[in-house]
Amino acid sequence: MHTTVGIIGGGPAGLLLARLLHRAGVDSVVLERRDRAYVEQRQRAGILEQATVDVLRAAGAGDRLDREGLVHHGIELRFGRRAHRVDFPSLAQGRTVTVYAQTEVVKDLIALQLDEGGPLLFEAEVHAIEGADGERPLVRYCHEGREQTLTCEYVVGCDGFHGIARGAVPEGLRTTYERTYPYSWLGILAEAPPVYDELVYAHSERGFALASMRTPAVSRLYLQVPNGTDPADWPDERIWDELDTRFALDAEPDWRLERGPVTQKSVLPMRSWVTEPMRHGRLFLAGDAAHIVPPTGAKGLNLAAADVVVLARALAHRHATGSDELLEAYSDTCLRRVWRAEHFSYAMTTTLHTDPGQSPFDTRLQLSQLDRIASSPHAAAELAENYTGLPLPATP
Ligand code: FAD
Ligand code: DHB
Repeated sequence: MHTTVGIIGGGPAGLLLARLLHRAGVDSVVLERRDRAYVEQRQRAGILEQATVDVLRAAGAGDRLDREGLVHHGIELRFGRRAHRVDFPSLAQGRTVTVYAQTEVVKDLIALQLDEGGPLLFEAEVHAIEGADGERPLVRYCHEGREQTLTCEYVVGCDGFHGIARGAVPEGLRTTYERTYPYSWLGILAEAPPVYDELVYAHSERGFALASMRTPAVSRLYLQVPNGTDPADWPDERIWDELDTRFALDAEPDWRLERGPVTQKSVLPMRSWVTEPMRHGRLFLAGDAAHIVPPTGAKGLNLAAADVVVLARALAHRHATGSDELLEAYSDTCLRRVWRAEHFSYAMTTTLHTDPGQSPFDTRLQLSQLDRIASSPHAAAELAENYTGLPLPATP
């Protein structure tokens, strides 16, 4: 098979890239190693930045998002048993965020691709990329029990953190930056209506907690837990009790979360990680294949979307004009935004979580920083601008 752009991975990055290229008249093939049901049900991110919503709409993937997405105008921070709201539109040039699960974004993009786009092959596992630094890269994959090849003009690795694409960049030509954290998240989905209209991020003596949602009837809740935690050690009632304790407020001593059946429970490790550059010859990396952030602040999916917007524009520009100028700028353009999100996610994580080795001094610094956000419009605006997402780089 031959195509202009061979895309490895049918997660949000790969699917959105294929959609944007289709709209620009550039053909592509998406190879995804899992089956459709698996990809559509993988429980992950839930918050879309303003720019991500705008891009999905412009790509023709905004109908259900506009009907079912929940627009949020702020978040609540809890610390020292008090609550403080951060208002986004007044602090971040009118911007908001939208609660719309990654599972739903992926379902919408898959349906569009299968209806209108180029080939999207499930259970097609890529195991090698050859000739990335030449004129005609080749992708080797296994599909329906047979070894197959895809020749293309460009290859894009959208294959996530555990993918193979970045292995095609020679080791001596890439640099990796990494930080791990001494805690994880225990995440649950529960059939219980969210008790708040907005997300609640809580700093507490017992560690971090986050109350999010998926729909008006389904809550998504997270607790900081030690690395290596076995979800089996957390029966449902223990989780609800711990959430109630970490969200507790002096002003509402009788307050409790609304409980309901827990339908999913898992432990997520946390990591900051960037590989540079995001391009080698005709191979480009996008999304989690190139960078990971800890989840506090919900940047992962949004960064993946920003990368592919930049890349789709560059590939379309090349297609229309023959100029490589934007493709050459791709890595630098993306990395600027990536490092901003790395810093924001790191700062949100380390300000809100309790490090097991943390001293009382460190705790006072965290509380001072949170108090600053609660009392200074400048500090709150810094949070609001980063949380709602910086504007995408302008189209040249
Ligand atoms: P992925 O979604 O990882 O997609 C990569 C795709 O490539 C996968 O479908 C995979 O099957 C496929 N693939 C891999 N190798 C191959 C191969 N060899 N051949 C073919 N296909 C291949 N972000 C948030 O903002 N908030 C959250 O709450 C949050 N929770 C998360 C929970 C978990 C467990 C994880 C792992 C991530 C979470 N994230 C969260 C991050 C967010 O989900 C990711 O940033 C986002 O999925 C990135 O999209 P992507 O398309 O780059 O990568
Ligand atoms: C969600 C995840 C996050 O990391 C976050 O900061 C906010 C919400 C979520 O899964 O809903």
